[in-house]
Amino acid sequence: MRNGLKAPTDLLIGGGFRPAQGGRTLDVEDPATGERIASVGDGTVDDARAATDAATQALPAWRAASAYERSRILRRWFGLQQADKENLARIMTLENGKPLSESYAEVDYAASFVEWFAEEARRVYGRVVPATRAEKRILVLRQAVGIVAAITPWNFPAAMITRKVAPALAAGCTVVLKPAPETPLTALRLGELLLQAGAPAGILNIVPTSEAAAFADTWLGDERVRKITFTGSTSVGKELMRKASGHLQKVSLELGGQAPFIVFDDADLDVAAAGITTAKFRNAGQTCVAANRILVHERVADAFTERIVRQVQRMRVGHGMEDGVEIGPMISERGRQKVLAHVEDAVALGASVRLGGQTVSGPGYFVEPTILTDVSPKMRVMREETFGPVIAIARFRDEREAVELANDAEYGLAAYFFTRDGSRAWRVAEALEYGIIGLNDGAFSTAQAPFGGYKESGLGREGGKEGIEEFLETKFVSWGAVGMGV
Ligand code: SIN
Repeated sequence: MRNGLKAPTDLLIGGGFRPAQGGRTLDVEDPATGERIASVGDGTVDDARAATDAATQALPAWRAASAYERSRILRRWFGLQQADKENLARIMTLENGKPLSESYAEVDYAASFVEWFAEEARRVYGRVVPATRAEKRILVLRQAVGIVAAITPWNFPAAMITRKVAPALAAGCTVVLKPAPETPLTALRLGELLLQAGAPAGILNIVPTSEAAAFADTWLGDERVRKITFTGSTSVGKELMRKASGHLQKVSLELGGQAPFIVFDDADLDVAAAGITTAKFRNAGQTCVAANRILVHERVADAFTERIVRQVQRMRVGHGMEDGVEIGPMISERGRQKVLAHVEDAVALGASVRLGGQTVSGPGYFVEPTILTDVSPKMRVMREETFGPVIAIARFRDEREAVELANDAEYGLAAYFFTRDGSRAWRVAEALEYGIIGLNDGAFSTAQAPFGGYKESGLGREGGKEGIEEFLETKFVSWGAVGMGV
């Protein structure tokens, strides 16, 4: 790879790297310049099947290995990711566009899932349940679900992989992974590090491809695959779930969000303004938990708006490799056009642009950080996921209206609110129909807590002790006629 960075460019199948069938390749580009940075193997459906064959072969021994053995390998993988931080972070910034400081943070975040699940691997307990008859025993066993197909997005090229793969491997599953075609290099490097950690061949197979739908059909049509775990859009998630019904494969879905960010009139406005920097601008707003609807009490709306206008004016937009850059590009021209369409729609329906609202001239897919006021619920910025650096501010009159506005969404992933009133903190945290609540906190993501959504934001949880449950089956053994023989 360019710049002396280390990343394989072939597919990882059965413990070795090899070109895609027919030698097909796909280009990876730097979204900050539009230039090609590498070509990687572009997997075919035959490669997808070969990956499943390798995962099938690896499964019996991996599932039977002791939890301590699996834990040791994961622990070594964690250490190697930490040691490779500089390399991984630079690859990530080049293929995703996020500022280098965010890429460093993502390497830590990604590795923290591996460390966490290395520990959880040793805490998968069964139960012995009292039976109704003296000579019987009832045992409850927890076992790996089997082969897992993981489909991951480009916005967190490392963390969305480790958050799925580490618990799957910890549970004793083997994995076939399709990383996003925009960010395959980080994925392949993670795979290489897992091999260096001593992983047996075939427990993780990585196949980048430009044929996402054909891959999903291949894995969902294969009864050997017992679980599909996906992060991406709600529409694709629903389609995968429909198709998984063919073989009744288990499904975990981490889908879209439309996070409200509520600032009550008793909030510490400095804390709320600091919270918005992460909640809105991490990865240039391209996160499922990005604050989309900023709902501010009418008494503090002007003061809060002025504060964040000053704050955002100081933020530097540019290539993620440059010092001091805080906002990188959108991942693609398509992504950029969606953001601009949301701004245009809001303006047409009466919103005012306080800041930004345009593309940044020059190469790359940049959009200026944007602040819109006089926003109302019918606008697209208030109903759909914008996935860009747009702050859309609406006002509310009282707590009841704020909660109603916040819950008026088909999504239910994350919500943020800011208050100094302890009773309100309880009331609102309980009333919000969201899987994750940031209470006076704009940065909640962490390996030890369950991440996932209500409503159309998905099914299942990643991280926390819940994360490994998604990869375990429950088996009940009724043991009759236990000879007591005393
Ligand atoms: C996401 O945007 O899908 C994940 C964000 C996070 O883990 O914080």
